[in-house]
Amino acid sequence: VISVLGVLAVQGIIVAIVLYFGLYDGAASRPHAKIVRWFLSTMMDRSVERHARGIQAPGQASVEEGASHYSHMCVLCHGGPGVERSEIGQGLNPRPPDLMRSMTDWSPEETYWIIKNGVKMTGMPAFGSTHTEEQLWALAYFAKQLPQLSPAQYQDLLAKTGSSKQSGGSTQLESTENQH
Ligand code: HEC
Repeated sequence: VISVLGVLAVQGIIVAIVLYFGLYDGAASRPHAKIVRWFLSTMMDRSVERHARGIQAPGQASVEEGASHYSHMCVLCHGGPGVERSEIGQGLNPRPPDLMRSMTDWSPEETYWIIKNGVKMTGMPAFGSTHTEEQLWALAYFAKQLPQLSPAQYQDLLAKTGSSKQSGGSTQLESTENQH
């Protein structure tokens, strides 16, 4: 027991020295150490899994409302169907995931929890204090549909809500300007 405690104490001291003397590279422009990346992703996966237990999804929500909020609040970091991440999303570390691929990993309840509460130390904001329950669920259901949504269907939904058209590539600057 004493030797295990001794090893833990030495490890703790090493971590404290590395942090205190600024030896850990805090630059977002360079990748995290593997162990820190592991810490962040395990923290998020386990925390979301645990905290989303017992949440009851309302069964339905307005896809149009979800699309409209998504185009204003989320595209700049995550991109959308046929729409690139903005310069803000490209500069973040950890990188905001491509939801068109990763949404299959999360249930609607877990997605709702992530959007409402955000994720510490990653740049993913909490939208719970600025959005109603109805808006949060609309966003969660819309996000769940992203992997099946074509760029044309996405633009159709935006047109229905009167939101401005979004596109990637050379017109990206124009579309990010519209989002401000
Ligand atoms: C300022 C940038 C930023 C904005 C704006 C943002 N996110 Fe995120 N989001 C992130 C980052 C970074 C992560 C990755 C967190 C991690 O690595 O654990 C993330 C993770 C997520 C995840 C988990 C995905 C996965 O595969 O693990 C979901 C779902 C999500 N965001 C949805 C949204 C929605 C919906 C909106 C808009 C309401 C939004 N985000 C707005 C940065 C952002």
